[in-house]
Amino acid sequence: MDPLSRVHSLDGVKWKKYGPDVLASWVADMDFAPAPQIGEAISDIAQRGDMGYNFAALDRLHPEWAAWVKRCHGLDLDTERMTTFTGALHAMEAAMDVTTEPGDGVVVFTPIYHVFINAIRSGGRRVVEVPLGAGYTLDADAFDRACDEGTKMVFFSQPHNPTGRVYTPDELQAFGRVAAKHDLIVISDEVWADLALPPYGHVPTVGGDPSLADRTVTIGSASKAFNLAALSCAIAHVGDQRVIDAWEAQSAHVHGRPSAFSAAGTVAAWEHGEPWLNETVAQLIRNRDHLSARLAAETPAVKCIPAEAGYLAWLDLRATSLGDDPAAVLLEKAGLAFNSGPDFGSNCEGFARMNFATTPEILDLVIDRLVHAIKAGVTP
Ligand SMILES: Cc1ncc(COP(=O)(O)O)c(C=O)c1O
Repeated sequence: MDPLSRVHSLDGVKWKKYGPDVLASWVADMDFAPAPQIGEAISDIAQRGDMGYNFAALDRLHPEWAAWVKRCHGLDLDTERMTTFTGALHAMEAAMDVTTEPGDGVVVFTPIYHVFINAIRSGGRRVVEVPLGAGYTLDADAFDRACDEGTKMVFFSQPHNPTGRVYTPDELQAFGRVAAKHDLIVISDEVWADLALPPYGHVPTVGGDPSLADRTVTIGSASKAFNLAALSCAIAHVGDQRVIDAWEAQSAHVHGRPSAFSAAGTVAAWEHGEPWLNETVAQLIRNRDHLSARLAAETPAVKCIPAEAGYLAWLDLRATSLGDDPAAVLLEKAGLAFNSGPDFGSNCEGFARMNFATTPEILDLVIDRLVHAIKAGVTP
């Protein structure tokens, strides 16, 4: 059977955007069918025709998320401080809009998920880039030096997209001290939390350092771990009173509301999806290790730290012939779609982000093309 037949049958942007001749290893979707109970919960609403003002699943979102993070990450979150949004970025921008002014600085640790940078820029705020240190560790001194009076907020990714690192409690403590010194609001996007790859476990930002609890907005969703991006549903837990007050002063309609289908799918993921998630995590570990082993054996010029969470590989291709934007060259000349490194920060030339959440067969096809392009000395 054609290993690509399932992915080519899907409407998702991952495989549709570049057409059937390109192998898609870019946007953060997995090539695995979601847990069946999620589809069942969604089609149950449709089959019963229960599509009036049906808030049953929406009403369950906050307690179900609280129960999930308690069970999986030992984290106590207060349902009274939760607000639902149509996505993690929706929540982040909603917080930035009401608590900062145009021109204010928002810190990101680069390389960083490029959509954070776009959101800060399109909101008219200033991107304050703090490069991660050796091994993609948080550099608290660099963070401190980068902050000035106009710096008001941090967009934080824990676990980190694109490197797959999980910041340690020690790193979070140092980070928390600097955030407190400059009185920053910390928006901690934890949508990758449930994909920590054992022996690594998720370290919630507010759990890593208690001093962060009162200044952090923790954002979670089932979207990454259960492959449900199209459901458009995320929840923010707000520790920072400034954000609570500002949101309370707005009409709730500004925040919108996920659909009954989104909520039902999300609740089903947390209620029934754990066995599926465990199998998926095991597959991701096998894929990560296979990728590392093949790259080390076949193209040692490609460097990559093994992901501690998630399914992204942040590839250092600076020692190859692929130039400053390897993803552009690989797309044009090798039929491979990765994300462009330079989108992830000004220190990211020569890098590319790859997605290894796919079947072993497709992963080998992707690695074959990458190795072939590098051995052939492909240039821009
Ligand atoms: C760190 C991070 N935050 C947010 C998102 C997007 O989340 P949403 O679709 O809920 O806005 C992604 C998607 O890959 C992500 O990696």
